[in-house]
Amino acid sequence: MAEMRLILYLGKGGVGKTTTAAATAVRAAELGYRTLVVSTDVAHSLADALDTPLGPLPTKLSERLWGQEINVLDEVRQHWGQLRDYFATLLRRKGMSEVAAEELAIIPGMEEIVSLLHIRRQAREDNFDVVIVDAAPTGETVRLLTMPETFQWYASRVMDWEPTTMKAVRPLVKAMIPAVNVIDTLKKLTEGVEELRETLTDPEVSSYRLVVNPERMVLKEAQRASTYLALFGYPIDGVVLNRVLPADAAEGAFMQELTKIQQGYLQQIYDTFAPLPIWQSPHYARDIRGVSDLSMVGNALFKNIDPVKVQFRGKTQEISLQGEEYVLRMPLPHVELGKVSLVKRGDELFVEIGNFRRDLILPTTLAERPARKAQFRDGVLEVRFGPPETETKAD
Ligand SMILES: Nc1ncnc2c1ncn2[C@@H]1O[C@H](COP(=O)(O)OP(=O)(O)O)[C@@H](O)[C@H]1O
Ligand SMILES: [Mg+2]
Repeated sequence: MAEMRLILYLGKGGVGKTTTAAATAVRAAELGYRTLVVSTDVAHSLADALDTPLGPLPTKLSERLWGQEINVLDEVRQHWGQLRDYFATLLRRKGMSEVAAEELAIIPGMEEIVSLLHIRRQAREDNFDVVIVDAAPTGETVRLLTMPETFQWYASRVMDWEPTTMKAVRPLVKAMIPAVNVIDTLKKLTEGVEELRETLTDPEVSSYRLVVNPERMVLKEAQRASTYLALFGYPIDGVVLNRVLPADAAEGAFMQELTKIQQGYLQQIYDTFAPLPIWQSPHYARDIRGVSDLSMVGNALFKNIDPVKVQFRGKTQEISLQGEEYVLRMPLPHVELGKVSLVKRGDELFVEIGNFRRDLILPTTLAERPARKAQFRDGVLEVRFGPPETETKAD
């Protein structure tokens, strides 16, 4: 049997992630895949989109379609409560105040990790062909995606304290929970997170898809997300461009103006995300609710392509260290050769090659470095960043 596929939608709140995830799921089920669509967003709206009640276990909606809304907080309480208490105890023993220890014991993003672990395990046990994740808003999701490393670091630090701290702590911990159990849980969790990262960065298994609207702020956030996904090695295979005004709707001055503004952003979106495929969904003049509406959206979006299959392979950008320089490489296969001009402002990089322009949000490491040189060769743009300019030199 083929490996399970995991499709994750990201985007700013309100862009249409839930609708897109549900529509993709309906389409996948129509194509014959055993499909689960699952929401991890605390503010669930998947049940609303599917127009059917959902619970924390997969609910069967049709022959090959299941829906689920995970209660993240419940998950955390079940699998994480013990560890949190344990961390808090260790931190208190290190002289941390009660409140600070409690606070530090909560690893940011842990909730989402726990729910992704749950999704992964369940997908295997229930033999789903594809699991579609209606993810939380971009910022949190990107943070969560960087979590495996952070978590491992955190866990290993706490583990390191163990030989010395453990003796003193053990009676204390024992009073609350059996220590062996905690160590086991921590080990299992660390292993789980490692496997999870493997799954989430395997381009044959996981595909991240950005959902955008032709609007300025939405676009900015999607650029940021795509930069971080690329940086941490999470494969993006496409962009859903939702809420495109139909060209024939441009009647009346107001609609004409709005359509014109959208046209500008459409061009920018294609420049920004090429060579990723971009799937367009019109702005419907009605509510989208229930399986038959979602089927219509899914068909309009994907037409004759199979949305379960990987739609793009390869890196959209790559950062490497060469000597003291960082090199950012971006394939731009459809761009004509031309003079490269470069402007860097804070964490934004504006690139122009002939008629083509791309605005890029840089990761922090590059944002603090001067862009030294840019060249466009063999369809690849290469930008070099020097060491950070230090104002005062300590010696
Ligand atoms: N292409 C579209 N045309 C019309 N309404 C849409 C479209 N996409 C989404 N909507 C509506 O917009 C609202 C927000 O969409 P939703 O998918 O819940 O966004 P998100 O999950 O990103 O917050 C919902 O009421 C949904 O029905
Ligand atoms: Mg949503």
